[in-house]
Amino acid sequence: MPLIVFEGLDGSGKSSLMKCLEKELTAQGHRVQMTREPGGTPLSEEIRELILRCRPTGEAPSARAELLLYQAARHQHVARVIKPALAQGVWVLCDRFTASSLAFQGQGRDLSWESVEWLNAFATEDLIPELQILIDVPLEVAQLRMQKRSTDGASPSQTEKDRIESESSEFHNRVRQGFLRQAKTNAAGWLVLNGEQSLQELTALLKTEFAKRNWLTPAPPAKKDS
Ligand code: TMP
Repeated sequence: MPLIVFEGLDGSGKSSLMKCLEKELTAQGHRVQMTREPGGTPLSEEIRELILRCRPTGEAPSARAELLLYQAARHQHVARVIKPALAQGVWVLCDRFTASSLAFQGQGRDLSWESVEWLNAFATEDLIPELQILIDVPLEVAQLRMQKRSTDGASPSQTEKDRIESESSEFHNRVRQGFLRQAKTNAAGWLVLNGEQSLQELTALLKTEFAKRNWLTPAPPAKKDS
């Protein structure tokens, strides 16, 4: 079954679109697992917490340490959750994956693109998503949405900026370029959506793309035990 990845800036709207896709696939009788990076297993969620926590008076990870923490969380996630799910015929929808390491650590932190690619391959054991969906929005739009989220009475964990969200606009603009660069060099593996459109419009575009790939067909009936 396919591994489908959602990518974009923080505040691009990827989680909402992922939930809409899950509904569509479930309605066709498919089994779907939604997951995220960093995270997706108890240990990987702990690593997430380590990476993203702001330590105002404490030590922040160096750029390479940060990259390695993301990759450690990734291998655990791939080995314990993603590959077993795919092997059981479950669709996996993942909020961020390898492209985020290239965009945030490669482009954003200015680490060598080749090193990040090598580590991505190592951490995923060469697992490549069938499709990566980039929800592209200008930084100002993403930031406004994040602000709105924090004034809309979300829980404290959703309102406080984490260590990456607290980075400069220059950093986040580099990250955006890092995503666009990947989508440009591998157009067949990416679907780039203009994230300024409504959720309904984005869902319709996604459905069209999935129909083209014959992915929105009903799931075959489950085998009965004899
Ligand atoms: P999230 O808030 O979308 O769940 O992602 C957590 C943060 O981690 C987000 O700011 C993007 C960042 N990130 C990286 O910097 N590198 C990575 O490899 C991944 C997966 C996420």
